[in-house]
Amino acid sequence: MTKLEKANQYQEKHRVSKREKPVFHVTSPTGWMNDPNGFSVYQGKVHLFYQYHPYSDEWGPMHWGHAVSDDFVKWEELPPALAPDTDYDGGGCFSGSAIETDEGQALVYTGVQETESEDGIKKNFQNQCLAIGDGVHYEKVRENPVVPAALLPEEYSREDFRDPKIWKEKETYYLVAGSKDAKNDGQAVLFASEDLRHWQYLSVLADNRGKYGKMWECPDFFALCGKHILTVSPMNMQADGKEFHNGNQSIAMIGEYDRQNYHLLEEQVVSLDYGLDFYAPQTLQTEDGRRIMIAWMQSWDMNIKPEEQKWNGMMTIPRELELKDDILYQNPVKELEYYRTEPVFYKKKEISATCSLPEIHGRVLDLTVELVSGDYEKFSIIFAKNETYETRFQYLKSAETIAFDRTRCGLTKDVVCRREMKIRKAGTTLKLRLLLDKFSVELFVNDGVQTFTSTFYTPLDAKDVILECDGTAVVNIEKYKITLDRARREDEI
Ligand code: FRU
Repeated sequence: MTKLEKANQYQEKHRVSKREKPVFHVTSPTGWMNDPNGFSVYQGKVHLFYQYHPYSDEWGPMHWGHAVSDDFVKWEELPPALAPDTDYDGGGCFSGSAIETDEGQALVYTGVQETESEDGIKKNFQNQCLAIGDGVHYEKVRENPVVPAALLPEEYSREDFRDPKIWKEKETYYLVAGSKDAKNDGQAVLFASEDLRHWQYLSVLADNRGKYGKMWECPDFFALCGKHILTVSPMNMQADGKEFHNGNQSIAMIGEYDRQNYHLLEEQVVSLDYGLDFYAPQTLQTEDGRRIMIAWMQSWDMNIKPEEQKWNGMMTIPRELELKDDILYQNPVKELEYYRTEPVFYKKKEISATCSLPEIHGRVLDLTVELVSGDYEKFSIIFAKNETYETRFQYLKSAETIAFDRTRCGLTKDVVCRREMKIRKAGTTLKLRLLLDKFSVELFVNDGVQTFTSTFYTPLDAKDVILECDGTAVVNIEKYKITLDRARREDEI
């Protein structure tokens, strides 16, 4: 039996029941999941691959798991697409991307090659590889690795060279990968090819400017609303006030693309998300022209899921990106609205002290609270709550900040529980949209100006939602449940 068949058999036999999982966020059938890979459209369907270790709830030899969707919300699990089974990728099929070609669906990924010297020192080398398939089964090509690290200028790392993102312009394929320069600083390197098998090194597309982290993981590069954006996930970054935080995170460099020199002239660099669990995002473009981003909803430094839980790792909701007046907006894909049920609305409702509202409770919610006016200093939305547990967002009006706190979510590990973000473009009103899906919350502030994504694995019977205010706030509320088994009506899409 091949390694891939073995992984598929394991997945079929040990599939974790849907009841134990989030409702509308992608998880792996069994075991461990990290980065989204190969997020792309192929023959009209949305494909999502991901870093996958089916055999345990911890990271291990990396496979590519696979799911498909018609609408970014409801996903069908497919057999794993890649397993680490050759001399050039035996150490793992690391992250990468996918593109539709005349030959089929092309997957480009990082092959990790394990070596051991005579004195027993082990080293891993990373090169970019190609597999082509029909949307379910994939063959690794005999020319692999198609982008060997030897193509890089000599002073760049051979051990940290990974996570290729591919795209096509006219007849040429381009690929951007994460890399490290001679000083160990992160950078994104660019290659080109006419046939996917023979690649040429072009340039350093962008580098860490001495402050944006060490190794750059999972770059993506695309045009959006007249600018170009490089998203990248730097390791070992240092916090800069409230804009970035310590450790691994994801940033967007926004600017102009100098095509003569294959270089991004960046104009601003922003955090992609302010929460505790957001990493390695990847984007695709839909047939109707939308740029959609999905990310791994977890942090490398905080593995907080309960021991008895058999699956580990979730994706964010896919988010539509837009750039308006130099602000990068993120909002849940519009397809999610189709799955909203049981609407509840309140208009100009006065909230003071601690307030629970009829029909506003549960762990699978799309809840918008708009603060329109009032005399108060602090306003909190508290959720996943019962007598023992709670998690909250707290808005501090004069400081113009929002703080997240999961200290009492049921954690038994000493990990980061609080983080604060400064509201960008704070105004007289504040709109907070929360997507709750059992074990996670994604907050979209002021129609997507900023987002804050975090996980919490609170027992599911904690499902109260409470609004709390130290004065009186006037709010509009819009609440829905999200239900995937809703019968589909074509005319509603
Ligand atoms: C990012 C990352 C990638 C690598 C993969 C390995 O989270 O470290 O750089 O390809 O995960 O699973």
